Amino acid sequence: MAEISFDGRVAIVTGAGGGLGRTYALELARRGASVVVNDLGGSVNGEGGSDAAAQKVVDEIKAAGGEAVPNYDSVSTPEGGENIVKTAVEAFGKVDVVINNAGILRDKSFAKMTWDDLHAVLDVHLKGAFYVSQPAFKIMKENGYGRFVHTSSNSGIFGNFGQANYGAAKMGLVGLSNVLAIEGQKSGILSNVIAPVARTRMTEELMGEASKLLDPELVTPMVVFLASEQCTFTHETFSAAAGRYARIFVGLTEGWYAGKGATPTAEDVLDHIDDIENQEGYIVPTQSGDELGAIFKLLQ
Ligand code: NAI
Repeated sequence: MAEISFDGRVAIVTGAGGGLGRTYALELARRGASVVVNDLGGSVNGEGGSDAAAQKVVDEIKAAGGEAVPNYDSVSTPEGGENIVKTAVEAFGKVDVVINNAGILRDKSFAKMTWDDLHAVLDVHLKGAFYVSQPAFKIMKENGYGRFVHTSSNSGIFGNFGQANYGAAKMGLVGLSNVLAIEGQKSGILSNVIAPVARTRMTEELMGEASKLLDPELVTPMVVFLASEQCTFTHETFSAAAGRYARIFVGLTEGWYAGKGATPTAEDVLDHIDDIENQEGYIVPTQSGDELGAIFKLLQ
C-alpha cells in the first residue's frame, strides 16, 4: 500500500481548534505537513472568540513533534481570509492545501429565520470559503499545485428541516468547488467536497446514542486522502461517517425530448413526466458543457 505523506506540504485548516478540523490538522501534521491551525474560538452559534482553541491544537501538534502555527482570524471577512493565507506564507513560504472547515449553526424553521441568522451562516461557511480560497488559489496557480477540500453537509445536499440558511450555504460550497475544479485543473489544483457526519460539539446533542459510533477521526481519512498528492479526483463530493465512505453525485436523466421544431405545452410535460424522471441512463456531468453536449446531440 502506498504511504500518503505530506512532507514538504503546507496546509491551512480553518476552524481547526476543535471538532473535525482538529482531527484533520493533527493527522496532516503527523504525516509531515506544516499546518496553519485557524480558529476564531467562538461558540457554536458564532458568538465570542478566544485564541485558546487554535493555540491548544498547535501545542498538541508540536508536542507530537509536528509543525504548526496558530491563526485566530475569522474566515468571514476578506481581510481575515487574506491574513490566514499570509500566516501560511510567512511561516512556511507557500500554501498547498486548504481545508475549508470553519462553521457555525443558526438553526431556525424557515418562517422564523431572521436575516441575521442568514447572513451569519452565509458569511462563515460560504463567503468564508471564498475569502480563504481566493488568495490561496493565486499562490497555488503560481506553484502549479493545490488541493482544496470544502466542507458541505447532507443538510444542504439532501435537505434538513430547520436549516435553510445552513443548507443553502453548504450547497453553495459544492458550486464553488465545482468551478474551482474546472478553473484549477490546468494548474494542478484539485477541488473536492466532503459531507461529514460526526460527533462534535455542533452535533452531539442532536444525535443521541448514535453519536457514540460517529467519532470525528472516522471522517479524517477521506479528507486526508483528498488533500494528498495521491488524490487525482477533482470536482467530486464524498460522504464520510462512522467509517463508511461514499460518493455523492448530481446526475442528469436522459429526459424527454419533444422533437425538433415542436412547441410543447405544460400538458405534454405532464404526459411525459415519468420519462423526465426516469433515472435509467443518467449521466454525471463534470461541467455545464456536458449538459449542452447532451442537448445538442438530440438536436442533430
Ligand atoms: P465545531 O463547532 O466543533 O467546529 C467548527 C469550528 O469552526 C469551531 O472550532 C469554531 O470555533 C470554528 N469557527 C467558527 N466560525 C469561525 C470563523 N468565522 N472563523 C474561523 N473559525 C471559525 O463543529 P464540527 O462538527 O467540527 O464542524 C466542522 C465543519 O463540518 C463545519 O463546517 C460543519 O458545518 C461541518 N459539518 C459537520 C457535521 C457533523 O456531523 N459534525 C455534519 C456536516 C457538516
